[in-house]
Amino acid sequence: MILITGGAGYIGSHCALALLNRNEKIVIIDNLDNGHIETINALKNIGNVEFIKGDLKNKKDIEFIFKNFDIDTLMHFAGYIQVEESTQNPSKYYENNIIGTINLLNTMVEYNVKKIIFSSTCAIYGEPEYLPIDENHPKNPLNPYGKTKLIIEEMLDDYDKAYDIKSVRLRYFNVAGADCSAGIGEWHQPETHLIPNILKSVFEKEKIFNIFGNDYDTFDGTCIRDYVNVEDLACAHVLALEYLKKENKTECINIGTSQGNSVKEIFDTVKLISGKNIPVEFKPRRAGDAAKLIADTKKARKILNWEPAHSLHDSIKSAYLWEKSKLARLNFDV
Ligand code: UFG
Repeated sequence: MILITGGAGYIGSHCALALLNRNEKIVIIDNLDNGHIETINALKNIGNVEFIKGDLKNKKDIEFIFKNFDIDTLMHFAGYIQVEESTQNPSKYYENNIIGTINLLNTMVEYNVKKIIFSSTCAIYGEPEYLPIDENHPKNPLNPYGKTKLIIEEMLDDYDKAYDIKSVRLRYFNVAGADCSAGIGEWHQPETHLIPNILKSVFEKEKIFNIFGNDYDTFDGTCIRDYVNVEDLACAHVLALEYLKKENKTECINIGTSQGNSVKEIFDTVKLISGKNIPVEFKPRRAGDAAKLIADTKKARKILNWEPAHSLHDSIKSAYLWEKSKLARLNFDV
């Protein structure tokens, strides 16, 4: 059985869905701080999901699961993810992300569970020294959020050496889209991410969308990111699971598309898909934003045999449909 931490969140729920579609047995632990019970209910409509409301900071919550379910593999998504908040409140990030993971890994050691797929991030690389960014790029995270993810990767190395715990760390670039047919999607409170924020301006009357910086050294002055579809990302997790079972080897793997799109291009695509005129203003640069982040994804293609299947247009269209359906369910006028 696979234990999914943070399975009520955006990426965790899409990976849970991919596992359900393969008839894997899953149990989810989530404290519902950022995850949503509606997401768990949507997953329960699709397959057999065990859900435990619990917190990784309480080791007893984790032990309860290991005692009561036959766990052989973990997918670890739980963690706080807001870059700016992490600079203002680092203690929240170190406490939750690091202590939660220590509890998780120590319980794995106690119960002799040896495989974990870890949700890492391109934020561990920091300001790029070259593009595209490969897995050997220097690691200089710019904020406590990225530092917690790097510390966990380093912990995983030590737990591998000492306790033979093997991990695949998937380093995501920017994730986009939703599986609307399953009723799950991106849902953060507060929302800081680009595509959901543009969509808020589509659906909320007179809400101005802010573009942070139009004086970057890029072709149109706005930041460039590599947007990978969330269903493609979930597929990478399934392949990582197969890899881990077959090869029993620790790996770090970038997951992106190797293509960059500017904030303005994303904005224009949302405008096209929604058919709405979205009010927009240019604002100063957001602290800590790199001008360009693009993944080198040769390793994912080679060792996982993974290829992104969805276009950027697909991702934005599904994000649009998800936002619309979510607001309709929450009884907003859309
Ligand atoms: N942006 C805007 N307006 C908004 C929101 C974002 O212009 O309202 C811009 C940002 O300044 C940035 C780009 O859109 O240039 C993308 O921003 P996101 O917040 O969507 O994503 P980030 O690139 O900041 O963050 C992503 C992940 C993080 C991860 C980080 C690594 O969401 O979890 O990449 O750099 F840490």
